[in-house]
Amino acid sequence: MNGSDKFILLNGHDSSIVLEAEIGERPSLLYWGPKLSEIDPATLKSMTLRQHAPGCADTEVEASLLNEMGASFAGPPGFTAHRHGKDWATLFSVREVDHATPNTVEIFCIDTVTKVSAQHSIEIDPETDVATFNTAITNDGEMDLTLDWCASAVLPVNSSATKMMGFTGRWADEFQIEDVEAFHGSYIRENRSGRTSHDCFPGLILRSPETNENGGCCFGYHLGWSGNSRIRADRLNDGRSFVQFGEYLYPGEIILAKGEAYETPRLYAARSDEGLSALSQKFHEHLRQKVMDSRIRGKSRPVHYNTWEAVYFDHDEEALFKLAETAASLGVERFVLDDGWFGDRRGPNAGLGDWTPSPDIYPEGLGPLINHVRSLGMEFGLWVEPEMVNPDSDLFRSHPDWIFRTDGREHEPSRNQFPLDLTRSDVRDYLFAQIDDLLSAYPINYLKWDMNRDVLLPGSCGRASAGRHVRAAYNLIDRLRARHPEVEIESCSSGGARADYGILQRTDRIWTSDTNDALDRHRIQRHASHFFPLEIMGAHVGPATCHITGRRLSMKLRVATAMFGHMGLELDLNRVPKSDLDTLKSGIELYKQHRDFLHSGLLHRLDTPSSVSASGVVAMDGSEAIFSWCNVTGHGETLPGRIVFTGLKPDELYRVRIIWPSKIKSVSEPSVIDALDLKGGGSPILGDMLMEIGIQVPLLHPETCLIWHLQA
Ligand code: DGJ
Repeated sequence: MNGSDKFILLNGHDSSIVLEAEIGERPSLLYWGPKLSEIDPATLKSMTLRQHAPGCADTEVEASLLNEMGASFAGPPGFTAHRHGKDWATLFSVREVDHATPNTVEIFCIDTVTKVSAQHSIEIDPETDVATFNTAITNDGEMDLTLDWCASAVLPVNSSATKMMGFTGRWADEFQIEDVEAFHGSYIRENRSGRTSHDCFPGLILRSPETNENGGCCFGYHLGWSGNSRIRADRLNDGRSFVQFGEYLYPGEIILAKGEAYETPRLYAARSDEGLSALSQKFHEHLRQKVMDSRIRGKSRPVHYNTWEAVYFDHDEEALFKLAETAASLGVERFVLDDGWFGDRRGPNAGLGDWTPSPDIYPEGLGPLINHVRSLGMEFGLWVEPEMVNPDSDLFRSHPDWIFRTDGREHEPSRNQFPLDLTRSDVRDYLFAQIDDLLSAYPINYLKWDMNRDVLLPGSCGRASAGRHVRAAYNLIDRLRARHPEVEIESCSSGGARADYGILQRTDRIWTSDTNDALDRHRIQRHASHFFPLEIMGAHVGPATCHITGRRLSMKLRVATAMFGHMGLELDLNRVPKSDLDTLKSGIELYKQHRDFLHSGLLHRLDTPSSVSASGVVAMDGSEAIFSWCNVTGHGETLPGRIVFTGLKPDELYRVRIIWPSKIKSVSEPSVIDALDLKGGGSPILGDMLMEIGIQVPLLHPETCLIWHLQA
């Protein structure tokens, strides 16, 4: 790179970031785009020089990493703080730069007027190309500094990325995508639920109008944080656009005494010129290799049996023994005992906080059930919800002061439970001891860590403490993990309300959604896959009639849907007809055969009409692929369209077969099934023909899902 020391170049796999950080000046991001053959930052800067425009300031104020108000920047600031109403016009200038490695930089900034300093940590991962940004603020002044907002970074938006994909949702229908057209003004999503939330997943994708799954330029952003958040994208009338992500702060939530520091959550960002699937692949690889703990990397994801929709709170040892036997006979490898096993927990109203097995249900503790499960060759997992307490519990009766309290205000009832004040070390120690005792007493391999309500009045010692709650929950999980490193943990929050890279730094999978409706799951899993790979998304085969939607769906469809995730079962197996059990068993076998591949390859979502949901996984070297094609509703035309594969090697010959369901019959014949012998030995077809022409899908009933296997 030419240019003086004030420019910093960070190179990723196929992207570069150029920052300007001149001592005494405001730091800024000059460029984030494709790796250029040669970058000359000085020329880059001249090329983007903006001149005076009539009606505006004599010299336009340049953007910086926080667009602070003290610089007279007219757009929304990325940092606001004050000392009793004073010292609000912050302006950070660079004091020192530490470009210790080719991919990382620390930029230390200071404001000598308001006496605040900011440290920006920026990194681009050379393998996955994902960039990360976070900022630490320190109060250098004598008086307390009240922080109202601090973005992890304010990032300029490429002018071609005019379309936005935002995430909204609700319980049992998480990860809904909202497409937003370009407009002048602000797109803001604030999550105040105290958890990652069902309705405000902290992710955003910006793309150019022509971008689709398979091509075009796009930018993805995700805040790795399990609490309140604010996402904003601002398009100024001067044509510049910015995004910023950070922790939403309650009034007075962060007040820094002299020398104290606050660190933002980490923002993960990636870009692609090859479409949305390629963008997701970067996030997936980054999560796999850099965010999640390496101890389960490469380990096969065992098939789960979860008791929730089979028995709910109606626990009975004998019935559970029987369920375990049937589950094992189907090939299940891990039996997870869900809610209802402890204290007086005979329903949602009592027991939370008392983490000892109910003596009336489990007179000898959990030992007999666990031993039985293990004797059947399965691991044992246990549900807990440590952060909550029911008023009807021994814990609450002995420590009514252990919940979050806000003077003169009452918690809104929600599942008759209150959030414990985890910012108190005695509360955390109690919870640590309770769970540590369980994990020490029993051979438990897995915890399902649930969190079933919003935390809306997180008052502790008179102060709002929503973020402190999240950090305390992280701390509790980290302590337990350090003590029991072999135990895997699932992050659940009434389904997918705690799914983010912050929690996944310390857990091993997410419970994607409470709905086991396979058709809804196609949409939810597809949308969640913009940031999460298949193996971390818990996906269960539920009952024939979905408990949440009332929709009746075939076993073949339910199996095919769960196969494109971390597969499990969650239904009363004693009520499943024999023919369905046989289908389930063969589906589990198929999953086991292909899971390691499905959980390590590159995900490709296909662009299809809305009546279809289709995606696939292609091996890193293109030698194998598995695609799922689900006819969600009927098609408008007389025949379904073609499945046009992506990600294959154009000159490779693939043997194409349909591997699920085991038997299919087209509505009318002859069909492509026979023409290409798709249910037999398959047909060899060149990669470029599969990607350019595709295969006519046979005429099938709605709610049918085909799984295609392509072997080079
Ligand atoms: C909510 C979870 O999402 C469910 O799977 C189940 O574990 C219940 N909580 C138990 O209360």
